[in-house]
Amino acid sequence: MSKNLVLFFSVYESTKAVAEEIAAQTGADLVEIEPVTPYDSNRSHYNALARYAKKEHDEDMRPAIKNEINIENYDNIFIGYPMWWYTFPMIIYTLFDKYDFSGKTIIPFNTHMGSGDGGTYRTITQLEPNATVLNGLPVEMSEAERGCKDKVEKWLNTTIRRTAK
Ligand SMILES: Cc1cc2nc3c(=O)[nH]c(=O)nc-3n(C[C@H](O)[C@H](O)[C@H](O)COP(=O)(O)O)c2cc1C
Repeated sequence: MSKNLVLFFSVYESTKAVAEEIAAQTGADLVEIEPVTPYDSNRSHYNALARYAKKEHDEDMRPAIKNEINIENYDNIFIGYPMWWYTFPMIIYTLFDKYDFSGKTIIPFNTHMGSGDGGTYRTITQLEPNATVLNGLPVEMSEAERGCKDKVEKWLNTTIRRTAK
């Protein structure tokens, strides 16, 4: 089994596209973080999703994850998510509450519409103090949707292949 895992959460599938690109280039296994209560992926309902996500954020909710995720067999774990309200979606907090990444190498990536990583990579180091967190990759949503093969390749070459082996 591959020792690299790409774990991602995505509603509009741009983070999924980046996750698939990383998995294709690294040969890593690919696992989607599935919520028990699905989010509305219809983009014309954006305002409703934004309101719902804001409520989850303001109430510090921990939306449940449906699938059991096995992180035991992996050393290097890419974790990808969209930027929601200047941080990661609350289900990513659920992930860090539920699973212990001590001793693992976490390589974050995210998609966004202007916020970059919003300080989330630093938050991961605080939530998982016993993991090694490498330089992450923020990708603008439109770039993720156009295809970010070169960007991912450059990032993997500079950040990952040097440090995560
Ligand atoms: C509820 C919600 C909140 C968002 N908040 C932000 C934000 O604070 N900063 C930002 O740059 N983009 C924000 N966005 C844009 C998303 O980060 C962007 O659309 C992302 O690429 C979607 O990822 P996905 O296609 O994997 O779901 C928000 C989008 C949604 C749906």
